[in-house]
Amino acid sequence: MPGRTCIGIVGWRGLVGSVFIKQLAANINNENTKFIFLSSSYKRLIKILKGSYYVKKANDVKALLKCKIIVTMQGSGYTDITLAKLRNLNWVGYWIDAASSLRRLLNVCVVLDPVNSSNIKRSIEASKKSFVGGNCTVSLMLMALHSLIRRSKMKWMFVTTFQSVSGAGANYVKSLLLQMAVLSRVRFRNVISSSIQFRISDPNASETVAGSIVSWIDEETNKLGTSKEEQKGLIEANRILDLPMKIHVGGVCVRVGVLRCHSQSFLIKVERKMCFGCVADIIQSTSRWVKLLPNRKPYSRLLLTPEVISGSLVIAIGRLKKMAFNSGLLSMFTVGDQLLWGATEPIKRTLKLFCPTTN
Ligand SMILES: NC(=O)c1ccc[n+]([C@@H]2O[C@H](COP(=O)([O-])OP(=O)(O)OC[C@H]3O[C@@H](n4cnc5c(N)ncnc54)[C@H](OP(=O)(O)O)[C@@H]3O)[C@@H](O)[C@H]2O)c1
Repeated sequence: MPGRTCIGIVGWRGLVGSVFIKQLAANINNENTKFIFLSSSYKRLIKILKGSYYVKKANDVKALLKCKIIVTMQGSGYTDITLAKLRNLNWVGYWIDAASSLRRLLNVCVVLDPVNSSNIKRSIEASKKSFVGGNCTVSLMLMALHSLIRRSKMKWMFVTTFQSVSGAGANYVKSLLLQMAVLSRVRFRNVISSSIQFRISDPNASETVAGSIVSWIDEETNKLGTSKEEQKGLIEANRILDLPMKIHVGGVCVRVGVLRCHSQSFLIKVERKMCFGCVADIIQSTSRWVKLLPNRKPYSRLLLTPEVISGSLVIAIGRLKKMAFNSGLLSMFTVGDQLLWGATEPIKRTLKLFCPTTN
């Protein structure tokens, strides 16, 4: 049918992709949109988004060139090879990506609507063609704190993350489930025996996360012992906020055996003179998704958990308190679904700007 917007979707089988498809499914108008699904390993007829499609090869350039928009949740390797190929063939469509490889390029907009919606609009007006979601931890951090950062003129923050396994892809989640299954078969007396040092990983997994934690995420950067994941906190937060004065973001990123919510513990200093109640008000009024919970035991234990937040767009903030040793310092704890605000929601909202049939 002429006039329909052709959208290519790559990475729909992965963790981010499958959540993205679910969100899109509820709001799609097939009359105005034509989809092409591509995969590097899956070659069958699929029933998806109220239609049936023959899956094309992920590197099918002819099919990709037909797309006005390509949404990819496949990974940086795919982006690096494919986008360059398409641009060399004068493809002028929009590239919307969840992977990290383009995030530092100047002709790319790192998207997190509503935090930088005006920047996204300016980028479209300036004819930018590549729009990339931010790092999951950074997006969740800014969804919680962007208003306070801007209004309090915050100069630095320190964050310790508790990142879920979904942040590392489908196979990592499968590995955690396998490790838990192995763990559940271990005899109790063996678990508590100090002589038992079992590795519960499956042979394909590089690390154990069930009953353990992983205290380094992503590559080494050789700069002050900072991991690449921690470096993203500084670079991407500033890229998205686009403030006149850079905010220093330092911290430690840790993987824990949680399924799909990232939690983060913050230490911050509010520069502008403002009372504790004002800080709480600013956080609470950040957006309709932010819920500030009273710093009380029952609220924290019942509501400030991945179990409760999983599958929802709510960004829960709690444990807001002054440090006893320095009342100028505040700490707080947040929980957010990293597959939603950390991955698919910014991509979905960007797609909607180019293709108003999606909600
Ligand atoms: N996970 C997150 O929360 C998150 C957040 C922000 C950004 N990102 C970025 O988004 C990109 C995709 O992340 P992801 O977590 O969705 O990766 P993923 O689950 O590993 O999926 C990526 C691709 O791997 C292939 N694949 C291999 N084994 C698979 C399996 N067992 N099940 C499903 N697919 C499998 C699929 O491609 P084929 O169809 O071609 O086989 C799939 O599209 C990455 O660049 C990541 O850095 C992820």
